[in-house]
Amino acid sequence: MDNKKLKIIGKNRLDGSVTISGAKNAALPGLAALTLSSGKIKISNVPNVNDVRIMIDALQSIGGDISFDNNIINAELKNIKSGVFLGDNVGSIRASILFLGPMLARNGYVRVSQPGGCPIGHRGVDFHFEGLKKMGAQIEIIGNDIIGKTNGLIGVDYTFPGKTVTGTENLIMAASLANGDSILRNSALEPEIDDLIDLLNKMGAKIRRDGDNILIKGKTSLGDAVHEIIPDRIEMGTYVIAGCFADNNIIVKNTRPELIENLLDILRKMGVKINIKNSDIIISPNKQMSPIKLETMPYPGFPTDLQAQLMALLTQTDGVSQIKESIFNNRFNHANELNKMGANIVLSKDIAQITGVTQFKGNKTVYATDLRASAALVLGALIADGQTIINNASQLFRGYENLPQKLSKLGADIAVIN
Ligand code: EPU
Repeated sequence: MDNKKLKIIGKNRLDGSVTISGAKNAALPGLAALTLSSGKIKISNVPNVNDVRIMIDALQSIGGDISFDNNIINAELKNIKSGVFLGDNVGSIRASILFLGPMLARNGYVRVSQPGGCPIGHRGVDFHFEGLKKMGAQIEIIGNDIIGKTNGLIGVDYTFPGKTVTGTENLIMAASLANGDSILRNSALEPEIDDLIDLLNKMGAKIRRDGDNILIKGKTSLGDAVHEIIPDRIEMGTYVIAGCFADNNIIVKNTRPELIENLLDILRKMGVKINIKNSDIIISPNKQMSPIKLETMPYPGFPTDLQAQLMALLTQTDGVSQIKESIFNNRFNHANELNKMGANIVLSKDIAQITGVTQFKGNKTVYATDLRASAALVLGALIADGQTIINNASQLFRGYENLPQKLSKLGADIAVIN
């Protein structure tokens, strides 16, 4: 990955509005789902971020006819010429694992690099394998590759041992083209999964959610569809938190506020005034925010993907806050970097204790360890006294569309440098 840097000069007054893009974590499974259909598919509101472009390249490498312009994907995978997705790029993202289920169902053979993604701790795929094996797949690991084979998938009654987002998505896609009906129990509840179900049903699949049970009637083929990706709730949350760092009201547009209800409740408890007007969220910042205590949980709990950004904000509350990270076992890498900028964060296993109020110092160079960590550093830098350089900023472009441009429009002094 090229080492882009971000240069941010803090303390510019933020003002105005920002528009939210489509959800990365809905677009990625949506792209994997293209392999299930031989029809023409149009998907709009697809964010132009690095992980999305890697998935598109992978689909083109197996013979997919795909264009991506103005956030719209037009795709046709009439003939799949190979089941092999290899290379550093495919292996660098977590979402590449999402080719496993649908390609087994459509092609009977798939070889894909083991998934990468953010270095945030253990990221198992054993539930994906277990479920697919119960459907009649053979899966083996050779070197760094996962190889899946089947003579035909069959419907399954499978209970996930724990909540998994991509695991649920993989099995839904596999079951859509399996022989017979499936029921997936203890499925994850993230809205991006329901966006995938919506897309698949438009392609002709028969999928219904009943709480955390997902019922799927296997079909023999899937066809054309037109679909729009839901707004990105993590981007939404990131800009809502950015609004709390501002001096004036900030309007976050094109949102679905109910998708971040948990964050909005927490911010209200901290003393931030939030108004909702249709799909706009209006944040009236409060310079005297109260500390809080929270734990990350699967949806509808507080998302692990907003933990780093909220931690940056908690440095601005007057007192001691606490965050417990319950999803990943190494997702506090941003804490040390925020401390370099002047924060007072103490880590003990899965708990971070944040003592505010911090005046972030300028003239610091920090390192973006992962996608959401880099967003936390950007937030801190926006109010630092002087210039912050964020190294490894390419992490940010994996998941945030046009972040420097969006923040500049709000009045931030931010530039990408090499
Ligand atoms: N797990 C297992 N075995 C499995 C699957 C998961 O032990 O077979 C464990 C993981 O090790 C982890 C937990 O279950 O401790 C949750 O993992 P999950 O499978 O839900 O995560 P994921 O599907 O790999 C997606 C998002 C992440 C987001 C998590 C949790 C995508 C492409 N990624 O990952 O997004 O943090 O769900 O909500 O959808 C991000 O966008 O920055 C990001 C990391």
